[in-house]
Amino acid sequence: MINFNKVQFNYPNFKIKEVSFNIKKGEIVAITGNNASGKTTILNLIAGLIKPKKGEVLVFGKKPVCGKGIGMVFQNPDNQIIFSTVEDDIKFTLKNQKIPKQEWAARTAEALSLVHLNGYEKHDTASLSAGQKQRLVIANMLATKPELLIFDEVSVYLDPAARLEFFNLFSELKENGITIVFATNLLDEITFADKVMIVDSGEVKVLSTKQEVIKDLSVFKALNIHVPLKLEILSKIKEYSLTSDDQILNALWRKIK
Ligand SMILES: Nc1ncnc2c1ncn2[C@@H]1O[C@H](COP(=O)(O)OP(=O)(O)OP(=O)(O)O)[C@@H](O)[C@H]1O
Ligand SMILES: [Mg+2]
Repeated sequence: MINFNKVQFNYPNFKIKEVSFNIKKGEIVAITGNNASGKTTILNLIAGLIKPKKGEVLVFGKKPVCGKGIGMVFQNPDNQIIFSTVEDDIKFTLKNQKIPKQEWAARTAEALSLVHLNGYEKHDTASLSAGQKQRLVIANMLATKPELLIFDEVSVYLDPAARLEFFNLFSELKENGITIVFATNLLDEITFADKVMIVDSGEVKVLSTKQEVIKDLSVFKALNIHVPLKLEILSKIKEYSLTSDDQILNALWRKIK
């Protein structure tokens, strides 16, 4: 469903070297890697916001066009909200997408309830918190019923509860057959993915299942990517098949010492 075939891309000081990978429909993929490793560039290529210099990017078998079955949410929600009420902001998106007017109300209600913003229809968008704004931007995308959702470090503005809610939303979207690709610098967020892509200096170093990646964290260390304690523990639990609380506490204690 997302196919990169020997994709090359250049900025003046940066190159995507020759990247090939496939992502299947309904998969949740986390892209991680250090700052300036190329995460956003790869997301932009998937969304069709930039074109490869060589090679081919196909999404649903076609060259991607952002907004046509593909929704992308960026880090800063302020740049993505245009209208002064929640309802108007979503209506504008639906109008832009040429969705028939009779569907607007139902789509708006469904999207707002998915991000737990139902009841906020008449709210002033400027008065929303950063996390609520981010959820509105996500609702905007959901209202268009995309097949692919792309999130670029979206959870940055969300508090821990909202962040968990955001990732819990993923499983609901997945059940509806939506494919999700998200970039994150917070490594423990890879636990919300099915597959993990690790990028470094414009190259894809790893694209593997979450289980495989968590079992062996050495790749992160080799690339100088900080591994949070939570992930270390999870990895030890898997590596040594720890089951009892005592065993887990023991592993944790060894780590802290
Ligand atoms: N529009 C642009 N013009 C020129 N160079 C760019 C542009 N966008 C990104 N770059 C360069 O490409 C490299 C990769 O950037 P990219 O944004 O893909 O990294 P990233 O992994 O998303 O980083 P971060 O974790 O900081 O978001 C960086 O060196 C950056 O300076
Ligand atoms: Mg980025």
